[in-house]
Amino acid sequence: MTTITPIQNDFIAQINGVDLAGPIEEKTFAKIQTALHEFGVIYFQKQKLTPSALSSFTKLWGKPDVHHLAEHTFPEYPEVRVLSNVKKDGKLVGAFRGGSFWHSDLSYLKKTGYVTLLYGIECPSKGGDTLFADMRRLYENLPTNIRVQIEGKMAVHDRNYRYSALYPERPPLTKSQLASVPPVEHPAVITHPVTEKKSVFLYKEIIRTIGELDQETTWSLMEEIEGLLDNDDFIYRHKWNPGDLVIWDNRCTLHSATPYDSEKFRRVLYRTQVSGEMPAYVA
Ligand SMILES: [Fe+2]
Repeated sequence: MTTITPIQNDFIAQINGVDLAGPIEEKTFAKIQTALHEFGVIYFQKQKLTPSALSSFTKLWGKPDVHHLAEHTFPEYPEVRVLSNVKKDGKLVGAFRGGSFWHSDLSYLKKTGYVTLLYGIECPSKGGDTLFADMRRLYENLPTNIRVQIEGKMAVHDRNYRYSALYPERPPLTKSQLASVPPVEHPAVITHPVTEKKSVFLYKEIIRTIGELDQETTWSLMEEIEGLLDNDDFIYRHKWNPGDLVIWDNRCTLHSATPYDSEKFRRVLYRTQVSGEMPAYVA
């Protein structure tokens, strides 16, 4: 029997009574998908997923996306990415230190991220939590002076804007990598295609400009908006245990990785994602 337990307000739900490695009945999946849309973040515990099983479950959500900087994947399952600090023969077995800032996956593409699935295999007992922000709740609580500056405006998402500042240890993007992901415009407030709830669809590390504002003013406004997230009402912190599978809807949430002692702890996670549609704003 699949049960859905709200963990934090109407933002996070824990789902029990389903083995995600096994065949999943259509009505069970429909229940899971509805919970994701309603809450924004759902998680399962004590799962046993191989790359093949995670890939099969991901395909229920749509066509899995192969990351544009795909590496550390399984040859048969290129959509399953490994995130890890573990080294084998002196080489990292997974992508290390990514996404330690608020973001929505694939927001820099025309068709932005729908769901991301993250599965814990080895998890530090301290640190390495994942933070989630409820951008619907933030929208509902926006001070008027901020709301009028963003609602109905388009924002420029540019993957290349702060890439080298965010990833100083990575080689700079090549000319063709820079050209392959040009800036795109999305509404600063978006309407969820299923629930029709509005969310703030902005984060400072990717937004070059909002509406008519110049880059500097946009940066200050973004700092102000992200400052509002420093509030437990908007945030959920997931502390990982092996066997956890967390799924989030990138169309109404932001997430951020947090640090851990990578000399002391091993961390291995698998990650998949499915793209969605072009975000829209309905007044
Ligand atoms: Fe991410």
